[in-house]
Amino acid sequence: MPKLINIGYLATCRDEGKQHDIHPIHDAAVVWKESEIVWVGKQKELPAEYDDEQSYDAGKGMVIPGLIDCHTHLAFGGWRPDEFEMRLKGKSYLDIGKAGGGILSTVRDTRKANAEELYEKAAGFLGEMAKLGVTAVECKSGYGLSVEEELKILGVYKRLSEEQPMHIVSTFLGAHTFPAEYKDDTQGYIDLVINEMIPAVAELGLAEFCDIFVEDSAFSVDEARRILVTAQAAGMAPKLHADQLTSCGGAELAADLEAASADHLEKISDKGILAMAQAGVVGVTLPLASLYTQEPPLDCRKLVDAGVEVAVATDFNPGSSPTYDLPLAMMLACNQGRLTPSEALKGATIYAAKAIHRQRDIGSIEPGKSADLALIDAPDPNFWMYHFRRDVCREVFLKGEKLDI
Ligand code: NIG
Ligand code: FE
Repeated sequence: MPKLINIGYLATCRDEGKQHDIHPIHDAAVVWKESEIVWVGKQKELPAEYDDEQSYDAGKGMVIPGLIDCHTHLAFGGWRPDEFEMRLKGKSYLDIGKAGGGILSTVRDTRKANAEELYEKAAGFLGEMAKLGVTAVECKSGYGLSVEEELKILGVYKRLSEEQPMHIVSTFLGAHTFPAEYKDDTQGYIDLVINEMIPAVAELGLAEFCDIFVEDSAFSVDEARRILVTAQAAGMAPKLHADQLTSCGGAELAADLEAASADHLEKISDKGILAMAQAGVVGVTLPLASLYTQEPPLDCRKLVDAGVEVAVATDFNPGSSPTYDLPLAMMLACNQGRLTPSEALKGATIYAAKAIHRQRDIGSIEPGKSADLALIDAPDPNFWMYHFRRDVCREVFLKGEKLDI
C-alpha cells in the first residue's frame, strides 16, 4: 500500500458545499491500495498500520485530484492553422465554416486518416495531457459524419481506453454539423443519425453520451430534441454544445432533458441559467474556445451565483481550441470568467466528473475513489493560478501508478 506524505495542502474537492468549497487538509497524507484510495487525513493522524508502507514525499507541495478534461474532440486528422490566421485577419469562425472550412475541413482530413493513425496521434495527446496533471478525458466523435467514419473514431477511443492508462469516456457527436454530401438534404442526415448511427453506436456499446451542436448554423432545438431523445432511449445520456455563438435555447433544452451537461454557453439567456440551475445541469465553460474564436467569454460568476455547478474543460479540437492545456483553461476561467482558483479547481475535478457521470469513481480525494493524484509545486490554488507557469506539475499518480512524466 503506497502513500504520499508531507503534503502541505491537499485539496480533497469533495462534492458537498458550493463551487468554492474544496475542503482542504493541511499537512496531509494519502494512502492507496492498488488503484483505490484507502485513507486521507492529517499526517499526524496516519494510522500506525501504514507506517512501513512505501512512501512518496510531496515536499510540502499541493496535492489535487487528477484533473478531468470533460470536453474534448480528441481524435482528428490534420490541423487548421491557416484558419487561425484568417480569424486574426477578421474572418469569423462562422464565415470560415460557411465557406467549407471549419469542421468540414477536419472531416475531410479525418476521413483520410486510418484508425491506426488516429490512435497514434490521440495517444500522443493523452501523454502530453498527463504531464499537466490530467488523468481523465472525455472524447467526442463528430469528424466522421457517416456511420462507418463515426464508428472508426469511436473505435479509436475504445482502443485507447483498453491500451493506455488514462480514464476515457466516449461521446457520440454524429450531429456535429451536416456533411457536404447532405448539404441539400439536412433532413436525410438527421434520419441517418436517428435510424442508423445511434442504433449502431448503441449496439456496439461505443459511447455513454450523445452530444449535439445546437446552433443557427448547425442543428435547431427541435432537431436536437429528436436526436437526443432517440439517443437517450438507446442508453446514451444527453450533452449539448449550447448557446456558443448565438442564444438559441440550447440551455433551456438541456434543462428540459436533464442533460449531463450543457457546454460553451457564452450566449446563454437569463432564462437558460435559471432552468439549468433548477434542473441541476452542469454548465461546462470552455474559455479556450472563446479565446481562439475571439468571442466574449462566458461570465461563469453569473452561473455560479445562480446555483449552476460550473465545470472547466479545454474543448481541445483543431479549430476553435487547438490546445489541450487544462490548467490554462482554468486560469482563463478565473481571469475572464471570474471564477476563483478554488472554484476553477472544483470545476476541473468533481464537477467535471459530474458532467461525465463519473463522480462515484473519480474527481475527489476520498477513500473508495481511484488513486488519481497530481502533485503541484505551489502552496495553494491561489498561488498556482496566479503565478501561472509551465512545469509546475511535478508528479502524477494514475489508478495508483506513478506516471513517468
Ligand atoms: O466545440 N462548436 C462546435 N464544435 C467544436 C469546434 C469544432 C471545430 O471547429 O472543429 C467546438 O468549439
Ligand atoms: Fe466542443
